[in-house]
Parts: sequence; structure tokens; C-alpha cells
Amino acid sequence: MTLLDTPLTRQLGIEVPLICGAMYPCSNPELVAAVSAAGGIGVVQPLSMIYVYGHDLREGLRLIRHITDKPIGMNVLIERSSKLYLDRMRSWVDVALEEGVRFFVTSLGNPRWVVERVAPVGGIVYHDVTERKWAEKGLAGGVHGLIAVNDRAGGHAGPRSAAQLRDELADLGVPLVCAGGVGDEAAFVAALEAGYAGVQMGTRFIATDECGAHADYKQAIVAASESDIVLTERVTGVPLAVIRTPYVERIGLKAGPIARWLLRGRRTKHWMRTVYALRSAWQLKRASLAGGAREATSKDYWQAGKSVAGIDSVEPAGVIVRRFAAAALSASGTAKTARPRA
Ligand SMILES: Cc1cc2nc3c(=O)[nH]c(=O)nc-3n(C[C@H](O)[C@H](O)[C@H](O)COP(=O)(O)O)c2cc1C
Repeated sequence: MTLLDTPLTRQLGIEVPLICGAMYPCSNPELVAAVSAAGGIGVVQPLSMIYVYGHDLREGLRLIRHITDKPIGMNVLIERSSKLYLDRMRSWVDVALEEGVRFFVTSLGNPRWVVERVAPVGGIVYHDVTERKWAEKGLAGGVHGLIAVNDRAGGHAGPRSAAQLRDELADLGVPLVCAGGVGDEAAFVAALEAGYAGVQMGTRFIATDECGAHADYKQAIVAASESDIVLTERVTGVPLAVIRTPYVERIGLKAGPIARWLLRGRRTKHWMRTVYALRSAWQLKRASLAGGAREATSKDYWQAGKSVAGIDSVEPAGVIVRRFAAAALSASGTAKTARPRA
């Protein structure tokens, strides 16, 4: 048995336990396809596919299918927002099922309706969690695995380290995927050796030829070191990991006093979150597709996690997947797996 043979690879029918995580606004069909074609699994972010890259969901999924027939996944953001959004999300899940998608990564909220919709036709659902209470909720909703988002992740990071999360979730009896801080093959191998059934990466896959983000954004990831990653509340109202740019420095990291007050209020918090969601979607899309953050005047938020430390070039996504797989295979020969894989 090698480090590539895990409950995740067996469940999903893939060769490499490596997920290209959903990324608004960085997930484009070509990136998803490249990761899956190389033996990992790419996850579609429907909002990114439709509103950033301008594909109808079904057409975008078919574009991926044109490049590869290997398994792909789709992200389902299920926060309690408007009925209109939830109805739309439900219809996207149906389209994905019709187009042959059988892996779903749920984030926020209760994943039960997704499990009820996809499991009867063989769908597998993994739920993003940052601590045990969310994991227990997800499992009560019937999910098949957990994506443990740690404190080094790009996007919305969690409060726990990778090791703390593994220990906190290990007895739950489902496969655990490590998300956050993995940027090179040594970190990938270390996560598998620590007992994780797989790794979900975001930041590393932005610095690829296939990703639709602007070349300046990719170069900023290559140039950044760990200390350049800061958490800002200014985009979504909750801490978001971004690269410290002149713009980020200038406007500060904390939400303004009025926004904080509105976010705390029982009646105003949902309204305020909607305002943030709409504004951040626009802001992040604009920042990721346009260049120039090195100028002090530009308004750029470039999301990235501490895995930037292990990233030193822009490469084809398939090259990354294959290099990571080779490293895991050669480490399997020296077999020092610390504990049975969750
Ligand atoms: C630019 C960016 C956008 C992201 N958008 C989403 C998203 O829309 N949905 C989601 O579930 N996770 C999102 N994430 C989290 C990733 O799927 C993944 O869990 C995370 O990037 C792993 O950490 P890493 O960046 O250190 O590899 C995003 C991450 C980044 C960097």
C-alpha cells in the first residue's frame, strides 16, 4: 500500500489524494480540468464559473468534460441566505448530477439537503469544517468525509493548526482532508504521513498556467513569504487571508466601527452580511482579474494562504499534481506513516 492509496482516492476513484479546492474568483474550468486530468480532483465553484468566467454552469461542465473524463467535484455554499440563492444552488446541484458530477464539497450551514439529493445516486459529500462542533453537525447531516480547514489556509482560515484539527476530528470515523498551508510536495507528504486521507490546496493552484487569475496576482504569490499573509475583515466582514499589498496596508485590517456594530445586531447582521457578500464578490473578482497591486493606488485584495512559503514558480497544474504524487510514492518506500489514516 502506498501513501496514494487512501479512503479518499478509493471513495472518489482518483489516483492522487489531492483536491484543487473551490476558489471564488480563481476557479475556472481549465484549472479544474487540468487537476483532474492529472489524477487529482478539481472542484468547480459555480459562482466563479458563472459570474466570473461567464459560462452557463452546464456549458462550463461540458467544457471540462471536453478536456477530461476523470472525476470532478462541485462546491455547494449553503449558508442560510435568501430563498432565491438556495433555489439556485439546488438547481445547480441537479445540473451537476445530470452532467455526471458525483463529488460535492459543502461549506457553511447544514449539508443535509445536499446529502439527501446526491447520495441516492452515488454522490459523495465532504463538508468544510474548522472545528469539531461543525464536524458533528455535518456528520449529523450524513456527510461522508470532512475537509479540515486549518489556520494556515487561504480564504477563510480556521482557528486550529493541522495537527490540532486532526487530533480533534480523528475519532469521528470518516476520512479527513487537510486544507491549508500545503504549498510543496514535502508538506503534502507530511500531511499524508500524519494520517490525513488527502489534501485540499487552493493557493498553490492559483500560481498555475491554467488559472484565470491575473499574472500579477500569480507573481505576487510566488514572491510572497509567510509573513506577507495577513487576515483582513475589510472584505467579507470576517477574517480573510490576503497578501499584504500597499492598498491593504493603507486601508487597515479591521472592519469599520459602524460595520462592526451592524454585524453584531440581531436584526441588522443578516442584512450587513448580504451587503458584504455582494460587495466582496465584486471586489474580489475585480482584484483577481486585474493587475497592478504593486502600485500604492490600486485597490487589490489578493487572497492567499501561508502556503505561499512553498511556492516559487508558476507551473502547469498537472506538473504539480504529478510531482506531488511522485514524492508521495517515493516516501511510501520509506514507510514512516505515523498513524492509521482517518
Ligand atoms: C482565492 C481563494 C478563494 C477561495 N474560495 C473558496 C470558495 O469559494 N469556497 C470554498 O469552499 N473554499 C474557498 N477557498 C478555500 C480553498 O478551497 C481551500 O480550502 C484553501 O485554499 C486551502 O488552503 P491553501 O490556500 O493554503 O491551499 C478559497 C481559497 C482561496 C485561496
